Amino acid sequence: MKMFYGLILLVGINSMLNDSGGSGTPIGRLRQVQKTPESVIAVYDSGKARVEIFKSGIVHLTIQRGDDSRKSFAVIEEPEELSRYKIDSDKKAISVSLKDGAVKYLPESMNLSYVPQNSSNQLDLIGIQFEGSGLVATFDIHGARNFYGLGEKTLPYNKYGTCDTMWNSDFPAYSAKLDPLYESIPFLLKADTSGAYGLFFDNTFRSVFDVGASDSGKLVYKSAGGALELYLITGKNSTEIVQRFSELTGKMAMPPIWALGYQQSRWSYYPEEKVLDLARGFRKREIPCDVIYLDINYMDGYRCFTWSPKDFPTPKNMLDTLHDLGFKIVTIIDPGIKNESGYRVHDSGVKEDVFVKSPDGKYFAGQVWPGDCVFPDFFNEKTRKWWGSQYEFLLDYGVDGFWNDMNEPSVFNGPNKTFPLDVVHRLDVEDHTNSTGKNATVTHAEVHNVYGMQMARASREGLEKLEPDERPFVLTRANYAGGQRYAAMWTGDNFSSFAHLKLALSMFLNIGVSGQPFVGSDVGGFIGNPSAELFSRWLELGVFTPFFRTHSVWDSKPREPWAFDSASMEVNRGVIERRYELLPEIYTAFRDASENGLPIVRPLYLDFPEDQEAYNISDEFLFGDNLLVAPVVDSGTASREIYLPGRHSGDDVKWRSFYDGEEIQKGWQSVGAPLGKTPIFLRDGTILLTQSLIQSTSQQADTLILKIYGTNSAKGSSYFDDGETMSYKRGDFLVWNITYEYTNSHGILNFDREGTYQPRYRFLSVDVSVLPEQRGRVPAHKAVMKTSDGRELVGEITDIRNGVVRVTFPFTTEVRSIVVE
Ligand code: GLC
Repeated sequence: MKMFYGLILLVGINSMLNDSGGSGTPIGRLRQVQKTPESVIAVYDSGKARVEIFKSGIVHLTIQRGDDSRKSFAVIEEPEELSRYKIDSDKKAISVSLKDGAVKYLPESMNLSYVPQNSSNQLDLIGIQFEGSGLVATFDIHGARNFYGLGEKTLPYNKYGTCDTMWNSDFPAYSAKLDPLYESIPFLLKADTSGAYGLFFDNTFRSVFDVGASDSGKLVYKSAGGALELYLITGKNSTEIVQRFSELTGKMAMPPIWALGYQQSRWSYYPEEKVLDLARGFRKREIPCDVIYLDINYMDGYRCFTWSPKDFPTPKNMLDTLHDLGFKIVTIIDPGIKNESGYRVHDSGVKEDVFVKSPDGKYFAGQVWPGDCVFPDFFNEKTRKWWGSQYEFLLDYGVDGFWNDMNEPSVFNGPNKTFPLDVVHRLDVEDHTNSTGKNATVTHAEVHNVYGMQMARASREGLEKLEPDERPFVLTRANYAGGQRYAAMWTGDNFSSFAHLKLALSMFLNIGVSGQPFVGSDVGGFIGNPSAELFSRWLELGVFTPFFRTHSVWDSKPREPWAFDSASMEVNRGVIERRYELLPEIYTAFRDASENGLPIVRPLYLDFPEDQEAYNISDEFLFGDNLLVAPVVDSGTASREIYLPGRHSGDDVKWRSFYDGEEIQKGWQSVGAPLGKTPIFLRDGTILLTQSLIQSTSQQADTLILKIYGTNSAKGSSYFDDGETMSYKRGDFLVWNITYEYTNSHGILNFDREGTYQPRYRFLSVDVSVLPEQRGRVPAHKAVMKTSDGRELVGEITDIRNGVVRVTFPFTTEVRSIVVE
């Protein structure tokens, strides 16, 4: 896919602007309108506009000066053949009729209008100006007041009335309103009860979204360079729009299952003996944990791809022991390579000529943790390959995953804490051509926002090459649209406060609808020291956070789950155990997200688009398809106000308490929420898949437990595979679709199986009477499993508590039905 960008035509811009009088265009007069199989192009004196269609609902409008083009970093789709659509084009108008609305581009005035089928909120591009090297595009939003997305942004949750900048920046201990932060996803979602649309501005220069802040009726988009690269995403509701955006920019790859476990980090656990003590501490106290992180102190003088000989003299032994204890290890890797002859990584990079250069052709050097550093130029394949191959060093010791940090890039003594804007990046020849057909170089000003994503890409591609059958785990701090293809992300150096706990959740929701499902925050807050209460509450949110890691700054107090007092250790253990109990649901939610591009932590309005209230709620969320979670984000309270959606939508959803199956009314109400007892609800009619306790995903849980939260009928589905290799891509997985019906005092479960993977559970249990109204109704005298190979197995029946009956069978994927009577 080619996208146009204007190499800045400084000369003549004023005259172009002045020239617009007659024709109304800022890039000269309209000359002609041409058609190619995939685009309609309006040619102006000194630029062009192009209309393409992507993925049925997406109209791509480029308006640019000049002729240059380069490949998008974000978009992975090709434009579709226009012959498949109804398009009229002449010099007056290029009109596209889509299922969900009509889009019209007027070449003379360079205006665009979108009239959605089912919404009162039309959208019009009413003016575009090229100013200096940048551009300003003004849209009439026709009264729309609800906007979301824009990736990693602080408050407010609804972006209407805010001015948001895309410029990846390292701001430790950021405030709840600071902007910009570490990553840039220039995707804005308009969503309200009248309908939704998405606007993706695929321009990598510094840009600003003024969403009704300066003029309440307008969205003003400004970029410091390049072209207007607008993808207008249409659809019947926000779910469809988020899905289409994910088709355009790619989906999260399935992570290894251990990356879904609880993870413990601090800056830094060292030396070796402390790391081993930490690991043993978890096992001794029987608090589940999968991953330990090694921050910068594991290295020799902060040199990437080394071990500190003083603090980590026997890393192989340490890793072997940690693996024996059932832990995975993730090490940090920064882009700054110590600028020091004789250091192997530096010397090989110099030999391969992979480091970023200043305009004078010398390597650019700046200060990061190791002192003076040079930085890989991840924009070309040669560098990415070189970088990827460096991981062999750590893989050989048995390191399991990698954490790419400081990749905004953050440079302590750089102008504005990053590279100078005139630093030169060398691009891939085939992807980036200028008008003379030669491979291009670009300045840092143009691609700053993509540096982190290209680092994560280089890391992922390198790991895939080194261990082709393993699923890589890469965590990144900086990113750009489409970066979900390469890495998970976390929200950087936050703060230990209830305000930041609340903020983390609202950030997850906007990051999720921006295409990135695999997100988390430093549990407890990176800077500062949480109270025992704040830490437990943050863990409670963490259970339902896709990336679940405790992390803290070097001078913070100990933050292991047992670091406070014995009462809070008990609470924390119980909370972390819930993550492991729910792992079959969580893993299935990951699988769904990797297939459908929807967030795992979902704002209520995605599933309840007609419920007005849902658009204002940023402290509750849906987790996957079945759960609604309302974490406590305030201090000193044992209850909270919750809103259960569905009241206005005509939807007949009913909600049940996760804990006792009681039905809870829709709408606003107060619910009890003592420490450790997060308000969690399920849609009535859900079969929840849980499992017996394990201490890490390196262990096999004994029992898969189905819990029926439906009076007369319920359904559930679950996805299984080996959790670590690529064999699922070759068909080695299992999907179970399970239904439950209650008739004539019988409960009947039917299992529909797709795939051949054999999970290694020993038992399959069903809790047949989770709901109060079911207790006693299913007498459970007898439970019989029928299998596809003709066997009939009689289940063991136990009353587990207060009349909740559990029936247990040997685990088999041959199960076809279970009848409880
Ligand atoms: C940055 C990271 C933080 C890390 C620290 C030291 O501040 O955001 O997570 O602990 O660097 O590596």
